[in-house]
Amino acid sequence: MFRTKSVEQSMRDTEEPEHALKKSLSALDLTVFGVGVIIGTGIFVLTGKIAKETAGPAVALAFVVAGLVCALAALCYAEFASTVPVAGSAYTFGYASLGELPAWIIGWDLILEMALGCAVVAVGWSGYVRSLMDTAGLHLPDFLTGTRDGEFGFDLLACLLVLLLTGILIAGMKLSSRVTAVVVAIKVTVVLIVIVVGAFFITGSNYKPFIPPAQKVEAGNDITSPLIQLLFGWAPTNFGVMGIFTAAAVVFFAFIGFDIVATAAEETRNPQRDVPRGILGSLMICTLLYVAVSVVVTGMQKYTELSTDAPLADAFKSVGHPFWAGLISFGAAVGLTTVCLILLMGQTRVFFAMSRDGLLPQTFSRVHPRFGTPYRSTILLGVIVAIVAGFTSIDELAELVNIGTLFAFVVVAIGVVILRKKRPDLPRSFRTPLVPLIPILSVAASLWLMLNLPAETWLRFGIWMVLGVIIYFVYGRKHSRLGKHLPPREPVSE
Ligand code: ALA
Repeated sequence: MFRTKSVEQSMRDTEEPEHALKKSLSALDLTVFGVGVIIGTGIFVLTGKIAKETAGPAVALAFVVAGLVCALAALCYAEFASTVPVAGSAYTFGYASLGELPAWIIGWDLILEMALGCAVVAVGWSGYVRSLMDTAGLHLPDFLTGTRDGEFGFDLLACLLVLLLTGILIAGMKLSSRVTAVVVAIKVTVVLIVIVVGAFFITGSNYKPFIPPAQKVEAGNDITSPLIQLLFGWAPTNFGVMGIFTAAAVVFFAFIGFDIVATAAEETRNPQRDVPRGILGSLMICTLLYVAVSVVVTGMQKYTELSTDAPLADAFKSVGHPFWAGLISFGAAVGLTTVCLILLMGQTRVFFAMSRDGLLPQTFSRVHPRFGTPYRSTILLGVIVAIVAGFTSIDELAELVNIGTLFAFVVVAIGVVILRKKRPDLPRSFRTPLVPLIPILSVAASLWLMLNLPAETWLRFGIWMVLGVIIYFVYGRKHSRLGKHLPPREPVSE
């Protein structure tokens, strides 16, 4: 269960011709990928909801808190990605440092982050597209607009988006990274428009109070309250200083994605140098943009009046500028597509790595003879995510995605320290500074945000993890290549 795979072995596996992904990405490609997946539903949708219900204008501080937690994790991710530059991100890192069962658990956990995250973003995208369609006088029947407010429905647009992106991924990295670059440019332009144009419409009084006074939550001590409040018997509140942390645990979703840059390590020409640059670069750019956007938007409109569906666009409507609002809605709809695309890609890469090690059936690690992409896992995952996106409502799923991601951060930080001890000899082009202080701070910070998530999210997370452990004992443990002392799987021709 705790057998580890050597780093050299992980890297040799990628040299198998049929199991090798094309190496075509540069540091700039990775940064574009990072920004492409990081800026999404978090800033475009959650900002309004969180400012209105949990933090007020101090949502900007929540972004700073979440950004700091991510920066600590990023320093750990960067060391790992530069030491073990193969597909699979935290999963591969875990296999090299902690052992097979912990690695499997991380891989299983990453499914929450990426596949479910992709579904969440697809549903958010579909909302923006419907709002644009409504403006143009086109309306979908209600039952095709998804499940919400307890009403069962099917989200046709979200489902179609995921299927389309699955096709793009199968056709190959080069095509998808080009498409991504154009879309990222549109998305960043729109975010900059919000900041620069919006700054002219700020009214100072909207910032008062900047941190609204704490308010008791009526529902009280039930499982929808943050775990930390239940553990310590605090009366659950919104707003106030604690509200900033509750808000940070949710807007954390806006930062998810920088770790996914590490999953593309194997497809990077010079991973040792470029992966750390890609991770830290994209994280820094996004943090600055988020803080600026939230300061501007809460300055344009009183936080109590912000919209929860399309807050960035609606803030412009509130100051009498529907043209800018339309442009922003369009950019958001375009921008969310890359978020979905990259989350889906990251997921297929983790699947690919797990299959290569025998923890998942072999069929998922074969690459397409012409496109060089792991097409089978892409098809399987794409169809499942399309179904989930079609039938599930997004609110609670986002919190589940957050807890899964934070858990992976904890494991990676611990892994950095363990791998330093076990393999001090390995070349590390990027070294996490101040080990073990930074990894310890990273673990503490990630756990702190996890504790600020609702108790029911913990419960769902627990159930998901127990399911994963059962699957490991039923399948993975017996089929593990490492466990059988076998080399990685021989390629099987199509
Ligand atoms: N960070 C991504 C978003 O905000 C997942 O949508």
